Amino acid sequence: MKRRDFLKTSLTASLGVSLGSASLLKAATPSAEYPLAIASGNGEVAVKKALEILQSGGKVMDAVVEGVKIVEDDPEDLTVGYGGLPNEDGVVQLDAAVMYGPTHKAGAVACIEGIRNPAKVAQLVMDRTDHVLLVGKGAQEFALAHGFKTENLLTEKTRKIWLKWKEKLNPRDNWREVADDEYSLLLDQYKDSYGTIHCSAIDTNGDIASVTTTSGRSFKIPGRVGDSPIIGAGLYADNEVGAAGSTGRGEANLNNLSCFLIVEFMRMGKSPQEACMEVCKRILSHTRLPHLLKDNGDLDFNVEFYAFNKKGEVGGAAVYESSTGFWMADAKGARKVEMAYLYKR
Ligand code: GLY
Repeated sequence: MKRRDFLKTSLTASLGVSLGSASLLKAATPSAEYPLAIASGNGEVAVKKALEILQSGGKVMDAVVEGVKIVEDDPEDLTVGYGGLPNEDGVVQLDAAVMYGPTHKAGAVACIEGIRNPAKVAQLVMDRTDHVLLVGKGAQEFALAHGFKTENLLTEKTRKIWLKWKEKLNPRDNWREVADDEYSLLLDQYKDSYGTIHCSAIDTNGDIASVTTTSGRSFKIPGRVGDSPIIGAGLYADNEVGAAGSTGRGEANLNNLSCFLIVEFMRMGKSPQEACMEVCKRILSHTRLPHLLKDNGDLDFNVEFYAFNKKGEVGGAAVYESSTGFWMADAKGARKVEMAYLYKR
C-alpha cells in the first residue's frame, strides 16, 4: 500500500500514533495567557513588536500589522514586501490580508505593485471601504489616495536572482547562461519559494486580529494570486474561537479554504495543533494531480499552519517537518514552538 493510501486509511487513527516516518503530533500544545502573538518561522521580530504594542495598550490590529511591517521593510526577507522575489517578468506583485475578530470584517489587496507595505493597505481597505478585496491597479491607486508612495520593490539582489532564473529557464532561447555564482545558490534556494509571513494576536480583552502578507510564489505568472489575500485560505479569525494562518503552497489553501477549516475544527473542540494537523490530512486526501505527488504518493509540496484558540492554547502543523518551527510571544517572552508534521524531511 502506498504511504498516501496508508495515511488516508489512518485518518480515523487516534492522534499521537506514530505512522512510520509520518509522525502526527509533537509535544503537548503549549498554553499561553493573553496578550499573545504567534507568527510563522520568519516572524520573530513580528511577535516581539506585536506583543510590545499590546503590552503598552495598543490595538490588536495595529500590533499585527506593525509586526509584519518590519519584515515587509526588510530587504533580506526575499518572500515579503520590499525585496520580495518578483514574477516571471521581474515585477514584484504583493498580496496581503487582515481580519479583525470583533467585527468579523476583513480587508485585502492582491497583485499590488510598487507599495512595500500591503498589509497596511489591507488594513485601510478594511477600515476605510465597504469592500474586502482590491486588486492590481485599483489597489495601488487606493494606496496612493491614502498617501503611500510607489517605489521599485526589486532590490539588486532579487534582480540578479531573477535574471539568473531567466537565463537558466530555456537553453534554446537567446538568454545566455553565465557561470554559476552566489546568485545561482540563492536561485536554488528560492526557485520554488512560497515564502510568506503570518501573524495573529489576541489582546487582554480577548479580541483577535490576523494578518498574512507575501510576495507569493517566486517567478509566478503575472497576475497569479495566492492564498494570502483570500479570507479563509491564508488566514482566518473568529473572536469566539481563535485564529489561524498559513505559509507555503497557496494553491493548496485556495482549494481547501484551510484556515477557515482550522478555525471550524477548533470550534468543534480540537486543539490548535490537532486542527492544523487535520487540515494537512485534508490536503493530502484532496490532492490527486500527479505533478503534486511523489512516486510513493506523498505530497510534493509544503504548507505550514499556525493557530491559537480562545483558551490561549497555541499549535501548528506542516506537511513536512519544520526545521524552524514557529514563533509565539506572551508575558513569558518570545519563543519557538515545534510543529506537528505529516512527513519527516
Ligand atoms: N502562501 C503564499 C502564496 O502561495 O502565495
